[in-house]
Order: sequence, then C-alpha cells, then structure tokens
Amino acid sequence: MKFFIDTANLAHIKEANDLGILDGVTTNPSLMAKEGIKGNEAILNHYKTICELVDGDISAEVLSVTYDEIIAEGKILAAIHPNIVVKVPMIKDGIKAIKWFTDNGIRTNCTLVFSAGQAILAAKAGATYLSPFIGRLDDTNWDGVDLIAQIANIYAIQGFETQILAASIRNPLHIVKCAEAGADVCTCPLNSILGLLKHPLTDIGLAQFIEDAKKM
Ligand code: E4P
Repeated sequence: MKFFIDTANLAHIKEANDLGILDGVTTNPSLMAKEGIKGNEAILNHYKTICELVDGDISAEVLSVTYDEIIAEGKILAAIHPNIVVKVPMIKDGIKAIKWFTDNGIRTNCTLVFSAGQAILAAKAGATYLSPFIGRLDDTNWDGVDLIAQIANIYAIQGFETQILAASIRNPLHIVKCAEAGADVCTCPLNSILGLLKHPLTDIGLAQFIEDAKKM
C-alpha cells in the first residue's frame, strides 16, 4: 500500500518525506486555504514547491465544476509538473472530464466519493485514483472501511485498474483497516502516520534495553 500525506503544510510534508516512506501528497481547497495560499499564482507555485519536495504523485484539485472549465483548469495544473494528478469532483461534468483527461494522457484522482456506484463510474471513466472519504462516512454513521472493502471487491471482480486511495483518514487504526480492506493508497494527516509508531510495550521494552545496556 502506498502512503500519501494529506496536507498542504510544507513542514508536515518535509517531516513525512524525511521518514523515507512517502509516495505522494494530496491536497484540497480546504487544506490550501488553511495554509493561507490565495490567488492563482500562489496556488500554482505552492504545487510546484510540493512537487520539488516529494518525488511522487501530487494531487492538485480543480476549483471548477463545469466540463469546459474543469478541462481548462486541469490542463494548467497538469503542466506544472509530470507528477501532478488532477483531482476532479465526483459530479456529472467531473466524470466527463476524467474521461477526457484519460484519453489525453492526464492522470486523475476522482474525489468526494461516498458510494460503490460512484466508484464504478469513476473506474469506467478511467480515473487513475479514486478517493472514498472514510472519516466523513464514519461521521454520518456509515462504515467507511466497509466501503473500501466493497470497492476493492468490485474492482477485483471487474478488473478495473483504478487505484483505491482511502481519504479522510482520521487515525492510525483507519490506516490499518484500509490496508486490510484492500486500499492501494492511504492519504493521511501527519499525526495518523506518526501514530502508527506508537505502542506502550515498545517504549517500556526500549527503556529496559537502554537500562540493561549500561550493565554490559
Ligand atoms: C483527500 O484527498 C481529501 O480531500 C481529504 O482526505 C478529506 O479529509 P477530511 O474529511 O479530513 O477533510
């Protein structure tokens, strides 16, 4: 399973990248706004900086919601760097645009996915990645990990090549459960990635080894 970091924060991206296990970055308009990135030039420059920091797929989300505008914006984003993946919302014009990008060699990440039906449509359009939002589903009393397992099963049966990118990850257990359910990628905040390190028995065991090493 690939690991992406889900942030536009450069310090967090650097810290995750330094671990040596980072395969890419996802962003969205909310994450960009949180970092105070405003205006077209600043947005494009920020994506360029992220591409220079991380050698992996970088999702850059379109802000448009109509077919022609999504295509125009996606072309500009894709031109920033070969590693850019154009992130497109799961709407009718978005699906049409994903098909156009697929036919024209531009890779895509279909975002805001909450059902297996949406996952089938995105795969039919040739999306490179599909982003089901696990945490937001859990928030509404639906099981997000169950959806990952259902989509993984459908894609395996049907031979779809779209990669399942589990998004809206809220904790380390989500990552473990998504790996178990067949996600190809997990995109996670830094805290969830670092949370995977934690176990009290590791800390107790290490403290003991350090103490005993003094007696050697
Ligand atoms: C990533 O691609 C998504 O935009 C992101 O994971 C959404 O996460 P949230 O539900 O925590 O906002």
